[in-house]
Amino acid sequence: MASSRGEFSSRLGFIMAAAGSAVGLGNIWGFPTQTASNGGAAFVLVYLILAFCLAYPAFMAELLIGRYGQANAVTSLQKMSSRPWQKHFGFIVGFGGIICAALILSFYGIIAGWMMSYAIESAASIVGLHSVADWVIANSLGRNLLFTVAFMVLTVFIIRKGVENGIEKWSKRLMPMMLGLLILLIIYVMTLDGAMEGLNAYLNPDISQLKDPSLIVSAMGQAFFSLSLGTSVMVIYGSYISRKENLVSLGAQVTLIDVSIAFLAGLLIIPAMYVAQAQGVAIFAADGSLISGPGMVFDVLPKLFEDMGLIGTFIGLAFFILMSIAALTSSISMLEGPVSYTVERHNVPRAKATTIIGFLILCISVVIVFNIDTGLDFIATLSTQYGQPIIAMLCCIFVGWIWHRSSILEELKQGNDTVDHSFFWKIWPWYTKFVCPVAIATVFLNSL
Ligand code: PFF
Repeated sequence: MASSRGEFSSRLGFIMAAAGSAVGLGNIWGFPTQTASNGGAAFVLVYLILAFCLAYPAFMAELLIGRYGQANAVTSLQKMSSRPWQKHFGFIVGFGGIICAALILSFYGIIAGWMMSYAIESAASIVGLHSVADWVIANSLGRNLLFTVAFMVLTVFIIRKGVENGIEKWSKRLMPMMLGLLILLIIYVMTLDGAMEGLNAYLNPDISQLKDPSLIVSAMGQAFFSLSLGTSVMVIYGSYISRKENLVSLGAQVTLIDVSIAFLAGLLIIPAMYVAQAQGVAIFAADGSLISGPGMVFDVLPKLFEDMGLIGTFIGLAFFILMSIAALTSSISMLEGPVSYTVERHNVPRAKATTIIGFLILCISVVIVFNIDTGLDFIATLSTQYGQPIIAMLCCIFVGWIWHRSSILEELKQGNDTVDHSFFWKIWPWYTKFVCPVAIATVFLNSL
């Protein structure tokens, strides 16, 4: 039975929603890009180690805070605090995460809008509406504004409907669609000339890159972005999980899905780049590195689709729908943090809170659109490079140093009676207290 504030109706519902938040543009675009520019499988290896040894324990801390508090991020952290200074600290950490999520959404929505616009452009070409297709490609300011608004409207539409009928229902629909499209695209790309060369570039490690400390910094940033850490998202999703569920195993399953989909995306994107090369498209920049970032998704791949004729237009359509779906299940999670806070702390009805906050974030997006060259980079750096690691580290400090060990065990035992005999229990509390904060701080300071 769902509580009045909403609850995921099933284990699958939570897994789909949390994996939906985790799997996004970061997996399908960010991970392959980072891998391609950081030594192929050498990066994958470091990423896997950091994802399981650093991001997963921090992810568990956030889920646990939420499940214990059964409330928005600020209230949950304050429930764990006994002294006044701890409550203030809880406010700073919880609210900081909420702001971080809002800032990420403000630029993520623009990029997701680009994905939608390319999907519409492909669809318009297929049905012969060439003037629409040409407008989408030529008019960058109008396109950015229109599709950022459209994407935000979709996000608001889902979040207005609440946890079970909004987040859970749509994640359960969209995630299988996304996975199906991804697998179909991989199979198709693998049949094309050049794909094997791409596979080789992806899976053959360039061990010399392991010496480069920037590889660890990039891998940690990627892992934290991918698991949506430091944004209050996993705290609030944790608060919607029933106490009957085994949190340790749910968290592990979501991490595994997230990492697996990133790996699968690498099997699509990197071979597709080499297929493009086989068709005569330039895939290396002037300095000899593989073209990455926007150039890869909005230049190289569309050229490949164009060269493939009508079938390429369909493949392009499938690819950009895949990207848009992945972005949508992530963006809804970013909006849920600020909305749940406003609903629970300021007694604003959910529909109204969602619309107001969606509108405010959209205003930030519009400012970015008008300053796209500097604005997008600035907000992205501020929120993902600074905000996420700092807040994630503070959440670990909260669990490790402010919360009582006996309360942590009690919460972990809900839905998992034997946790106190497990390897997880022997390691994790200590690990979250000492290793996670120090490791996150070290990598973060290195990134400066
Ligand atoms: N995890 C998402 C991705 O990989 O694209 C991005 C993300 C979602 C970041 C939610 C932050 C967040 F709160």
